[in-house]
Amino acid sequence: MNLKNLLVLAIICTCFIQNASAQVLSSISPGQIWPDQQGKHINAHGGGVLFHEGKYYWFGEHKTEGKSGNRANVGVGVYSSADLYNWNNEGIALKVAKENSGSEIEKGSIIERPKVIYNAKTKKFVMWFHLELKNQSYNAARTGVATSDKVTGPYTYVKSFRPNAGIWPMNFNDAWKNKTVKEADLKAWTDEWRKEVAEGLFVKRDLQKGQMARDMTLFVDDDGKAYHIYSSEENLTLHLAELTADYLAFTGKYITIEPGGHNEAPAIIKHQGKYYLVTSGCTGWDPNAARSFVADSIWGPWKSLGNPCVGEGADLTFKSQSTFILPVAGKKDTYIFMADRWTPENAIDGRYIWLPMTIEDGKPVIKWQDNWKLTKE
Ligand code: DGJ
Repeated sequence: MNLKNLLVLAIICTCFIQNASAQVLSSISPGQIWPDQQGKHINAHGGGVLFHEGKYYWFGEHKTEGKSGNRANVGVGVYSSADLYNWNNEGIALKVAKENSGSEIEKGSIIERPKVIYNAKTKKFVMWFHLELKNQSYNAARTGVATSDKVTGPYTYVKSFRPNAGIWPMNFNDAWKNKTVKEADLKAWTDEWRKEVAEGLFVKRDLQKGQMARDMTLFVDDDGKAYHIYSSEENLTLHLAELTADYLAFTGKYITIEPGGHNEAPAIIKHQGKYYLVTSGCTGWDPNAARSFVADSIWGPWKSLGNPCVGEGADLTFKSQSTFILPVAGKKDTYIFMADRWTPENAIDGRYIWLPMTIEDGKPVIKWQDNWKLTKE
């Protein structure tokens, strides 16, 4: 065999080996290793999915090995898929900045729960995420924003901040705004304390600095208006805030939801004109029971509907925590509940719990399935 033939053979063999590792998937197996088209477990935790021009794009936290793998060591990863089973690794959409560069998103900061929406007017893809500054644990509680002209990036970091500085929620009255009671005057978790939380104890504390913004999601309504929903006030209360027409800032219109309810991991859909919100409680990386809420207007009032999960494992959300609810394109009333089964000892090994979510008698319902497929119609 001459050198040219040998080279051709080597190329054929390499292609064969590479393809051998990429299996074609035709179903979803929650909690199992989910190989991407390159054969590697998908690395997009705390993520969300954007459907754009016939394709799905899954954005999520790119974790690394070990405990420190929960920090932003690499950035936000993105995968694409046409069928929601087979995902192609499109690389790192938002890269962390170099260590010690002084950037707010430098390596070692914390970037969690990234979500991307598309702005049809500006033709920009807009990514928002929860940002914690390096070496400050979870104290910064900021929201960060990045943009790109291309769905898969690269995304350019714009800024981070605490939202709605100097602005009261729309569902607050003047009596609440004029209160003088302070955190130190009250015993936590008493009825009196709970009442004061609902009437703005922490909103007032953070009024000048801006409101804390941790676990988050985004939602674009039918009229193109976008909303940012985040755990605020020491994770005690959710805030739902309107974004500006370019999706790059907050308009200042916002409400509090479930004050003192300790909700994290918000995920939202609109179904037959009503808004449904699924959240978790606050137990760090450990799972707890999911909660659900419904409202006729995005501005509330939001009514509690209890745990949407049913059957064995429902009390711990099947050992996972919500991150997003994906309406499947072209399939009426078909929703995928997306959640994370965290593995904080080895962050990269976190698993994905994707399950069908239905709305039955006006309530979201999520049931465990070992393996499932989307229906044909
Ligand atoms: C629960 C949150 O939902 C996660 O995103 C992460 O912030 C962990 N807490 C950290 O303990």
